[in-house]
Amino acid sequence: MRPALNDNFSRLVPSYLFSEIAARQKVFSAAHPEVKIIRMGIGDVTRPLAPAVIEAMHRAVDDCARPETFHGYGPEHGYAFLRERIAQQDYAGLGIGPDEIFISDGAKSDLGNLVDLFDDRNVIGIPTPVYPVYVDTNLMRGRTIRYIDCTEADGFTGQIPDFPVDILYLCYPNNPTGAAISREKLSAWVDYAHANGSVIIYDSAYEAFIREPSLPHSIFEIEGAKECAIEVRSYSKTAGFTGIRCGYTVIPKELGPLGAMWERRQGCKFNGASYISQRGAAAIYTPEGRRQVRADIDAYLENAALIRSGLEAIGLHATGGENAPYIWARTPEGMDSWKFFDLCLEKAGVVITPGCGFGRGGEGYFRITAFNSRDNVCEAMQRLKAL
Ligand SMILES: Cc1ncc(COP(=O)(O)O)c(C=O)c1O
Repeated sequence: MRPALNDNFSRLVPSYLFSEIAARQKVFSAAHPEVKIIRMGIGDVTRPLAPAVIEAMHRAVDDCARPETFHGYGPEHGYAFLRERIAQQDYAGLGIGPDEIFISDGAKSDLGNLVDLFDDRNVIGIPTPVYPVYVDTNLMRGRTIRYIDCTEADGFTGQIPDFPVDILYLCYPNNPTGAAISREKLSAWVDYAHANGSVIIYDSAYEAFIREPSLPHSIFEIEGAKECAIEVRSYSKTAGFTGIRCGYTVIPKELGPLGAMWERRQGCKFNGASYISQRGAAAIYTPEGRRQVRADIDAYLENAALIRSGLEAIGLHATGGENAPYIWARTPEGMDSWKFFDLCLEKAGVVITPGCGFGRGGEGYFRITAFNSRDNVCEAMQRLKAL
């Protein structure tokens, strides 16, 4: 092959976590076909879309069936009907305008694509353990990453580093630890960003799971955040859009050229989320849509509470699951993440996610998700209790 390849790909750690889980599961199933495996590691939603969303998407399909209401290419940054609702409802009282909101096909693309706005010489600060996309998308560009340890001692909200970084990734409520961040701690991160001239990329894909009234839903609730932060959100876990695809990024005007650069970048490399998915997303902002989506999240949160109390009842130290769909727990004394994974699979037929798959800070932990049916959650907890 003549073209030189992007050698940065050789720096990526092979993403073997989910393939290794699937491989171990396959070997076990072949040896024990009689065992019904319960997958408690999945990060995908299991409940169907809310009726209000389904109705809106049906209507949107019908629009496309008639010449007078047909929609082809939409505005690259999203339809005004959705951007306005986001500004009015998700950012009520925070002074974020529709022109600072950019609709996309989901948070993963935005998180990966935002790297285009910054020079590759920047030093990147990434907490560990964490959703692996931040690490991989920066490694692909050959950037230097400084890891920030998040431990039980800081409630998995990270030690404010004594070194500067240019770009800082934060994710709350967190995947994988299920930790939420307090207003005070988020203010400390914003102060750190100001002191060091950093930009924070704030991933709040799980914002809708926050139930504790004192917790911030958006980084823009923190004074000074508009001058240093970009916020990324998604309808995937909020409203079951993992297969429909829709999310958005907020770049406040206070960040100077970044909004215009993102507009240029998206205008060049992205042609917009579909009209149908944006109509579906807009339905979440109607009173019935809100109610239905909240009921789905409540059901996941009830699963989370059952999982957390179930793990605690068998003597495991568990955190998260209160304002997030993830429960993060310590493996029993003397067992690493994979050893405990094997034990759960072989003795209980339950699949968990080994914490080491989320970076060095995850070893010695495992993640269980609340995305499941109530029956599966109850049965999985019974089986783990019997271990
Ligand atoms: C923290 C976090 N951010 C972003 C995403 C991606 O979401 P989307 O489906 O909108 O691409 C996920 C998905 O699991 C996630 O856990």
